[in-house]
Amino acid sequence: MKLPISRGRISHTLFEDFVWLVRSLFSKINDSRTVARFETTFANYVGRKHCVVFPFARTGIHAVLKNLELPAGSVVLMPPITIKPILDVVLDLKLVPVFVDIDQSTVCFSETSLTEALKSSPRVAILTYLFGIVPDVEALCKTLRNAGVFIIEDFSQCLNGKFRGDKIGSFGDVSVYSASSVKTLDTYGGGFVFTDDSEMAGSLGIDQRKLSKPSRSRLIKKVQTDLIRNFASQPIIFAILTFPILRFLTWRGGSKLTKFTGDRDQQPLTSLPAEWFESYTSIQAKVGLQQIKQMEEKDSKRKSAINQINSSHNFSDRPIGADGGENVFWQYIVYADNFSDFQKQLTSRGVDCSTTSLVKISGLASYPFQGVTPNADRLYSNGVYLPCYHQLTKSQISRISNSLSELEPK
Ligand SMILES: Cc1ncc(COP(=O)(O)O)c(C=O)c1O
Repeated sequence: MKLPISRGRISHTLFEDFVWLVRSLFSKINDSRTVARFETTFANYVGRKHCVVFPFARTGIHAVLKNLELPAGSVVLMPPITIKPILDVVLDLKLVPVFVDIDQSTVCFSETSLTEALKSSPRVAILTYLFGIVPDVEALCKTLRNAGVFIIEDFSQCLNGKFRGDKIGSFGDVSVYSASSVKTLDTYGGGFVFTDDSEMAGSLGIDQRKLSKPSRSRLIKKVQTDLIRNFASQPIIFAILTFPILRFLTWRGGSKLTKFTGDRDQQPLTSLPAEWFESYTSIQAKVGLQQIKQMEEKDSKRKSAINQINSSHNFSDRPIGADGGENVFWQYIVYADNFSDFQKQLTSRGVDCSTTSLVKISGLASYPFQGVTPNADRLYSNGVYLPCYHQLTKSQISRISNSLSELEPK
C-alpha cells in the first residue's frame, strides 16, 4: 500500500516531543547555566565567538538594531519574503525598510536589485537565506561592506549551509538563527544572535538580562504545537486523517491550507507583544544540546534524498543556489506555472505540497512601505514546497522523483 507523503515533518521523533512535553510541565525552566552552556556550544558549532539567545529571532534582531543606535528614518534593506514580525521590529524602531528583490535562482538578494537599493543609502541589511539555498554570499557581503552597510545574516533556513567551505552565519557582522517549529534545529522556538564583536555581544547580553521571566504555559503550548504537528504528519495518521482533511479543504477552496503551516496575520502591530520579550528557557537549551548532536546525520540524509530526486528529473526551473555554495535544502522548491494544477497532479500521485507560509512583506497593503519585487512575487505564488525531510524513505524518494519526471515541462 502506498501511503501519501506529507509536505513536512517535525525534525524530532514523536517520543522526543512527548518526553519534552512532560519535562516542560515539571522541570526547572530558568537555569541560566544550562542556557549559557548551549550558547557556547552553538557559537562553537557555527564558528563564532559569541552567541546570545533571545526568545525569538525577531527579538534578537530588535536588540541588534537598537544597539546600533541609528537615527529615525535610517534605511534597512530587507528581503521581500520573510516572517512579518521582522518588519514589525524594523518599524517599531522608526527605521525605513527598503525591499530588495530576490534572484530566482539563489532566492537571496539579486545583485542588480541590491545595486539599485544601495542608492537609498542604507545603514543595515538583513541578508536572508531561503530554503537552505546558498547564494554567492561573499560577493553580496563585499557589495554591502563597500557601501558601509552593517550586515545581519538571517540563516534560520540555512543552518550548516556553506559557501567556499565557510559556514553560512559566519559572514555578516552578526547572524541570527531561529530555532522555531519545523526548522532543522528546532528547540520549540528561540532566536540566537552570533557575533565575533565582543562589544556587541556585551550589549546584547545586557538586553538579554532585561527580558522578563519565561512563561511555563507558553513553553508547554509550543511543545504541544510540535507534538500535534508531529503526530498529524506520522505516515499512518497522515494517510487516514490529515491528507483526506487537507484534500477536502483544498477542494472546498480553503486557500489557507495550501500554505506550508497555514496562513498568517497580515495586519500591522500597534506595539510589540510582551511575549517577544520573555527569556528563553533552560528546557529549550536542553533540547538544543540534545538535538545539535543529531544535526549532521539528519542534514546528510535530507541532502542525499534531494540529490537523488534532483538527479532523476529535468526540472531546471527551481532555485539551485550559486557556484561555490553547499545547499542544505531546508525545503525543496520548484517553480510551477500554475500552482493549483500542479498541486492537483501531485496530490493524485500521493504527494502533498504547499506554497510558502512566509509573508510577502514587500506587498502588504496595510503597511506604510511597499516594494516592487517581481521575482519574489513569482516565488510567493508559483514556488511549490515539496516534501523534504530526513525521514523520507527510499520508496518515497522514488515516488517524488517519478512524479516530478512526469510533470516536468516538455
Ligand atoms: C527566514 C526566517 N527568519 C526568522 C524566522 C522565525 O523567527 P522567529 O524566531 O522570530 O519566529 C523564520 C521562521 O520561519 C524564518 O523563516
